[in-house]
Amino acid sequence: MAREREQFTCQNCGETYHKWQGRCDACGEWNTLQASTPEAVIPKGLSEGKGRTLTFTALDADISDYKRNLSHIGEFDRVLGGGFVPGSSILIGGDPGIGKSTLLLQAVAQMAMKGAPCIYISGEEATQQISMRAARLGLASAPVRLASANSIRDIIASVEKATPMPSLLVIDSIQTVFADNLPSAPGTVAQVRASAQELIRLARKTGTSVILVGHVTKDGQIAGPRVLEHMVDTVLYFEGDRGHQFRILRAVKNRFGATDEIGVFEMSDAGLREVSNPSSLFISSPDRTISGASVFAGMEGSRPLLVEIQGLVAPTPQATPRRAVVGWDSGRLAMLLAVLDTRCGLSFSGSEVYLNVAGGLRVQEPAADLAVAAALVSSASDIPVPPGSLFFGEIGLSGEIRPVGQADARLKEAAKLGFTTAVIPAGSKVKGAKMKIIEVGHLREIVSLFTGTAAPSRAASV
Ligand code: TYD
Ligand code: MG
Repeated sequence: MAREREQFTCQNCGETYHKWQGRCDACGEWNTLQASTPEAVIPKGLSEGKGRTLTFTALDADISDYKRNLSHIGEFDRVLGGGFVPGSSILIGGDPGIGKSTLLLQAVAQMAMKGAPCIYISGEEATQQISMRAARLGLASAPVRLASANSIRDIIASVEKATPMPSLLVIDSIQTVFADNLPSAPGTVAQVRASAQELIRLARKTGTSVILVGHVTKDGQIAGPRVLEHMVDTVLYFEGDRGHQFRILRAVKNRFGATDEIGVFEMSDAGLREVSNPSSLFISSPDRTISGASVFAGMEGSRPLLVEIQGLVAPTPQATPRRAVVGWDSGRLAMLLAVLDTRCGLSFSGSEVYLNVAGGLRVQEPAADLAVAAALVSSASDIPVPPGSLFFGEIGLSGEIRPVGQADARLKEAAKLGFTTAVIPAGSKVKGAKMKIIEVGHLREIVSLFTGTAAPSRAASV
């Protein structure tokens, strides 16, 4: 029979070990391992006793309870999949100061003004501070019930007794609340897990939707245990570049909607403003002609989004030239440079290469490959991308260009914004596009688009 062994749990990420060690292999933090409490060690098996018999229902059960509550912020509702499902739990993560508290304050105020009772509990700010922010945002008259609290027991007791029962409860943030039956400090794995469990149970029991704000660590994960992401129904990230005013709300998990939806906001002196037509923000006018810039017709969820990709290829005498990327994957850039070198004879070994996605946006689609290649070749050859043109397509290691999904939606959006030429993968199935289509099957064709020659010896010498 297996001996019951002591366990050590990382207080940062929740990984368990059989032996103590100084550094957690999973998250890389030092001194975070602690011996687990006896009750945390898994018991040998279920004790004797009969279980209750479950009643099974059909798939087409009554779903009238699932009438969603709208936040009345269109971009927020879109990311949620059409509003809050009653009884659901939502985790929203993001860097400090990115605007999570602002967004949620605006959401509860909107909902409260439209008649849905809301409670906002902050463990980080005093109620006066929140009132001051509400006054600055012009929301002070909204009938939101506000409290500053840290004890999960107090929070649960107050919400259970609240009349009317709130439609939405915001806890800002989950790392500041604690359960008094646990000895560990607020923010530790055990505390975050226990508090979240209580709040999720409260949500299920009362039909209130609960939003938990979670801090993000240096490497971009929600601090404390990843288990939090498994416990809640929906995980949203609020991201953006502090130097830019754009903020993106992204669903990474959603039991009640699509996960690739994004909501776009702009931070202004009057709080967050919705951007319902974001494409026009991230590109300059289609007829601008400078070398090193191309437009990528991307998709964010169900919505097409056009973004400008900027490349700069600068000669350098250094043996190991710099490569710097903002808003795209640096590994992918290295791959693309290698493909340009090997398959097209365009060497970047004597040049520094910089790549930037305009507006502080992060592009994750492989479909951006073609636009990146166009920006780089354009910069290397100092020949502008043809005016009014846009690019999308994935590039393979042999230099072949592969079709990507939703070509029609991308082209339609581009046509709306005044683009006249699309450079797209050969074999894309497009119907009724209102612009000139240039189909390309190999990266060489992109290179010759700029240099006019199939073997770009001129560009290679740049
Ligand atoms: P906040 O919502 O407190 O961020 P978080 O809760 O994610 O930590 O965001 C605060 C930042 O937003 C702060 O740097 C100031 C800025 N801000 C504005 O620019 N305009 C505004 O109207 C408000 C309320 C905040
Ligand atoms: Mg905050």
